[in-house]
Amino acid sequence: MAKESGRRWSPAAGAATATSPEASRGDRRGQAYGQPFGATERKDAWWLVPLAQATGLTLLGIYATWSALQGDHYEFGNYLSPFYSPLFKPSWWPLSPALLILAFPGGFRATCYYYRKAYYRAFFADPTACAVGEPWKGYRGEKSFPFILQNLHRYFLYAALVFLVFLWWDVIKAFTFDGRFGIGGGSLAILFNTSLLSLYTFSCHSLRHLIGGNVDCFSCAVAGGPRRQGWLGVSWLNEHHMAWAWWSLFAVCFADFYVRMCSMGIFHDPRFL
Ligand code: FES
Repeated sequence: MAKESGRRWSPAAGAATATSPEASRGDRRGQAYGQPFGATERKDAWWLVPLAQATGLTLLGIYATWSALQGDHYEFGNYLSPFYSPLFKPSWWPLSPALLILAFPGGFRATCYYYRKAYYRAFFADPTACAVGEPWKGYRGEKSFPFILQNLHRYFLYAALVFLVFLWWDVIKAFTFDGRFGIGGGSLAILFNTSLLSLYTFSCHSLRHLIGGNVDCFSCAVAGGPRRQGWLGVSWLNEHHMAWAWWSLFAVCFADFYVRMCSMGIFHDPRFL
């Protein structure tokens, strides 16, 4: 067993644990607490993922914000941009109609467990990365404003489930041309987006908890059998939650972009049927 001053290697985990009381937290191999910002023994490109996340979230966030504020070119024929769905346009509202509804899908994403992990690392460096020194001292959790608002995620989930009903209604409309079934390029873009948004929503950690995560004994619970089946399905989706989060973010921006380009006359929407 390899020994260094104040450390002992754990054969099970391959990690070191401090054994002497005088060992400081920053002395522990593989940990970064108390180390200067960016200090690490890692040899891999640990900064690559936070950098990619920061770039992706910034670019897509800027596009989504601009599109929502713009308030124009969000409809083309039977297509509606997902940023504006459900379309609510009262005569007394002078700004973009998207601003009346976007707090719900925006809040759902902003409080998502995966996105929290991503943007805490990418924008706040808190933590910077596993076993990399961070600029902040101590763990403050999400106990005070504004981060305590992250607890609203389960309520945003309820809103997101309602929004999915409207989005699937938009899919039906996108496949309806002059009262008949048809398929256009926009139909596929809107179907693609709503499918991915559904996968993202149904893979939510809060939904998993709601369906079965809070049950100790399925055979003792009301509707335990169906709940277990639902829980297994959501658990499978949940394993890929990060992928659904990113794909659905790309898809929602792409669907909006497609409708916008058609509305502006830049794209000519192809009809396949
Ligand atoms: Fe990501 Fe609920 S945890 S959407």
